Amino acid sequence: MLSDLSHISPVWSRITHLMVERGEGCHVYTTDGEQYLDFTSGIGVTNTGHSHPAVVKAIQEQAAKMLHAQVNIYLHPPLIRLSHALNEITPSNLDTFFFSNSGAEAIEGAVKLARHYTGRTNIIVFQGGFHGRTAQTMAMTTAKTVYRVDYQPLPGGIFVSPFPYAYRYRMTDEQVSEFALRELDMILHTQSAPQETAAMVIEPVLGEGGYVPAPPQFMQGLRRVCDEHGILLIVDEVQTGFGRTGKMFAHEHAGIKADVMVMAKGLGSGFPISGIASSREIMSKWQTGTHGGTYGGNVMGCAAAEATIKVIKEEGLVENAATRGRQLMDGLAEIQSRFPALGDVRGLGLMVGCEFTNPQTGQPDDALTKKVAAHTQQDGHLLLLTCGMYGNVIRWIPPLVATEAQINEGLEKFEKAMAAALS
Ligand SMILES: Cc1ncc(COP(=O)(O)O)c(C=O)c1O
Repeated sequence: MLSDLSHISPVWSRITHLMVERGEGCHVYTTDGEQYLDFTSGIGVTNTGHSHPAVVKAIQEQAAKMLHAQVNIYLHPPLIRLSHALNEITPSNLDTFFFSNSGAEAIEGAVKLARHYTGRTNIIVFQGGFHGRTAQTMAMTTAKTVYRVDYQPLPGGIFVSPFPYAYRYRMTDEQVSEFALRELDMILHTQSAPQETAAMVIEPVLGEGGYVPAPPQFMQGLRRVCDEHGILLIVDEVQTGFGRTGKMFAHEHAGIKADVMVMAKGLGSGFPISGIASSREIMSKWQTGTHGGTYGGNVMGCAAAEATIKVIKEEGLVENAATRGRQLMDGLAEIQSRFPALGDVRGLGLMVGCEFTNPQTGQPDDALTKKVAAHTQQDGHLLLLTCGMYGNVIRWIPPLVATEAQINEGLEKFEKAMAAALS
């Protein structure tokens, strides 16, 4: 019966056909008893590792008390405690929180907040961004056509500016930041006037679009443009948040303040919960009753998130992400010196991308990328995801509990897979 998928919608794409029954730390186990090293983290969710005992305990204890304490009807202790726990770890200006269930839902909420606060309509996003799969967030997503194809027309008022992607444009960080800021200025002069632009929405590290960190000078320039025109800067930290990049939140690397931050994935260790963080001043302009949802701020999600934040702090996972990230980048740079097809290695903390380029033609090599990922899975029992606008990036996004030995194991398996794919 378990091999009969005829009642499952085919719309889900799959990267494996593994039937898993259990996960622990960096490993998952199939129903056949096979072990895999999971460096996908369920697409950047299980930052605390699979089924961290402290998170599981919090969920079990909460489930025994109450499964659903609806936020329009009741207040509950995990909601209040989570708001305080977040207030301690978010940048000081982001002190007021709203909760929902998925990243896309929170992005949509942030857009609604920006429109109410500014009284303006338009949103500027950046080429290659991924913000979700609902109509509004599809319109904001340009990571690949597959996320939008045959779903037009999509909501209007969205304008796309170049992302500072140094490798793609063959520029230095300095040059690409200047270029992208110049193009942004042109959008404000030709497509979306400042007085009708509510917000700019950016991933501080492009996720689905190819694991590309925005240079700090670009983020600083973006902040200046937003300040100059009274436009809100919204950072989409859905994939980059909660220690992933070696700081609690990725935009902190640039030393800037965001007006609104969107969180999801790593917040709940796998329990669906997302959130919007902003200042009291901005949140106070969000008219009561104009946004909400049945499950947002639900007691189970809040309990999972509260326990997750405690684990991240107590186990020093942000620091571990920075240390293990350096180890991973150093190891990949060495491998790169032996394989010219590995065109670029880049990243922040444990969010690292390997971009494959044909050394003869200079073109993106998605076929090789797929082959390498297939070999890591089949020969090495190592699970890695791909990403990138051309599908030619392997992304490293291991749980933040990964050990030195596990990172070395991943590197060894990756190098063997590269050799096998090129043989
Ligand atoms: C940066 C970013 N924003 C938004 C989303 C959408 O989140 P969700 O799939 O929870 O709706 C994702 C999901 O991958 C993401 O990576």
